[in-house]
Amino acid sequence: MAEPIHPEFAPISLDELTRFEGAVAITAGPQGELNAPTRRLDRITQGIVTRFVSSEPHSKLKPGDCHIIAPPPGLSAESLVVCKVDSRPTPNDVRKAGARIAKAAGKKSLLLVPGAYVDPAEMAFGAVLRRYRFDRYKTDPTKETGELRVMTSAPEKADARYRDKRAAAEGVYLTRDLVNEPANVIGTVAFADRLRELTSIGLDVSILDETRMEELGMRALLGVGQGSESPSFLVTLEWKGGGDEAPLAVVGKGVVFDTGGISIKPAANMEEMTTDMGGAAVVAGLMKTLAMRRARANVVGVVGLVENMPDGRAQRPGDIVKSMKGDTIEVINTDAEGRLVLADALWYTQERFSPAGIIDLATLTGAIIIGLGHEAAGVFSNDDGFCKAFLDSAKTETEGAWRMPVGGGYEKLIKSGKADIKNTGGRPAGSITAAQFLLRFIGKETPWIHLDIAGVNNLKTDSDFAPKGATGWGVLTIDRLVRQRFESGADD
Ligand code: BES
Ligand code: MN
Ligand code: ZN
Repeated sequence: MAEPIHPEFAPISLDELTRFEGAVAITAGPQGELNAPTRRLDRITQGIVTRFVSSEPHSKLKPGDCHIIAPPPGLSAESLVVCKVDSRPTPNDVRKAGARIAKAAGKKSLLLVPGAYVDPAEMAFGAVLRRYRFDRYKTDPTKETGELRVMTSAPEKADARYRDKRAAAEGVYLTRDLVNEPANVIGTVAFADRLRELTSIGLDVSILDETRMEELGMRALLGVGQGSESPSFLVTLEWKGGGDEAPLAVVGKGVVFDTGGISIKPAANMEEMTTDMGGAAVVAGLMKTLAMRRARANVVGVVGLVENMPDGRAQRPGDIVKSMKGDTIEVINTDAEGRLVLADALWYTQERFSPAGIIDLATLTGAIIIGLGHEAAGVFSNDDGFCKAFLDSAKTETEGAWRMPVGGGYEKLIKSGKADIKNTGGRPAGSITAAQFLLRFIGKETPWIHLDIAGVNNLKTDSDFAPKGATGWGVLTIDRLVRQRFESGADD
């Protein structure tokens, strides 16, 4: 698995600046303002920094844009990265600048020299998120990513501020790894094993196998996995950092591969369905983050792990299954499997934990990509206050999220002639009818948010904080939500 390379915060030293090999990165204000260490760096480089920041090309840069001077005169470094930042940048501007610098520096060892009003911990965090790579299957001996050092007048303070960010980076890396790994490497058994390993950081992990789920009546979930050679599991991860209050529950769809089943998908792009466990991966990453930063809250993660395969024993279109709740479901399309998995996972979570709120995450519908593209996840909720708190957190973390409706006339679209409900409502409002299906498995009193992350979980292009592939969308937003709504006496 890819381990984050965390920053070392060091005091300002001209000697180190001069001798550092790799990339040295500095920030400059909109008018080319430099701080004391960068002014000294300017002298060592015979004025190349001031020449650049007072030039036309610098005036044309937008905040966050970087310019590379290579090789820089007077330094041992291979390159000097100059990053333009606003005079009073927001935390997110700073995080983004760190990420842009990391992208510009590639795998080189990196020395950050943040300017005035630039939080070194925040900038380092952006760089760490962006330095993620998934290259373990490249057999060419590729260069390892180098160290990350950050020069600051108050290294201890920066180190303390980085503490929770370290936990967040670890969580995001875990989520991305789980999503990026192919299904022959992380199937249901290996996924459950990875989750079991999280006991070492203080999570209580329990795993229900098929026999136990059969006893509990989880035929909706089990029906999805019955065509696969890999066994289905329901895994719960508990973090008890609070008092005796009811927990927040976070539930994830963990389809390790989605062929569509008997309603098989076309060949084009089917390989992307290795990422159909993205919801479960966010749950795993979030729980890791909460445990590592010893969050003062009770949070339980639940994931349904299945593989959706076509087979002689696979579920058929037209089958009618009974959920743990007792509601019967007509399976119109075996490719609408995520909601079947979540139906039982959600009901089980409420029966066992009586949570104060539930958030589920799932790569649930292609329709959400048609609606919102890759910019925002679809947000569905039965509780305006809870939903607003979530959207505020997402905004602060700049993870795209957009609320969609449930209720009203949408319910009738999933009525079944033969059973209580059917698992698809046809093409119109495909993401909404999927959410509507889930809502049926939420108790009247339970505040609930459903996140359809099909468009944001995995990207074909680089994004601000990740190279192409898994993004880890959701870990930072839900971590923030936990901090702000479920932790007592926590600061930001
Ligand atoms: N896993 C897919 C949704 C998906 C599509 C995720 C693209 C990521 C990228 C889901 O199980 C699915 O197949 N949904 C169907 C539902 C339909 C049959 C009602 C879809 O969206 O086509
Ligand atoms: Mn499907
Ligand atoms: Zn799916």
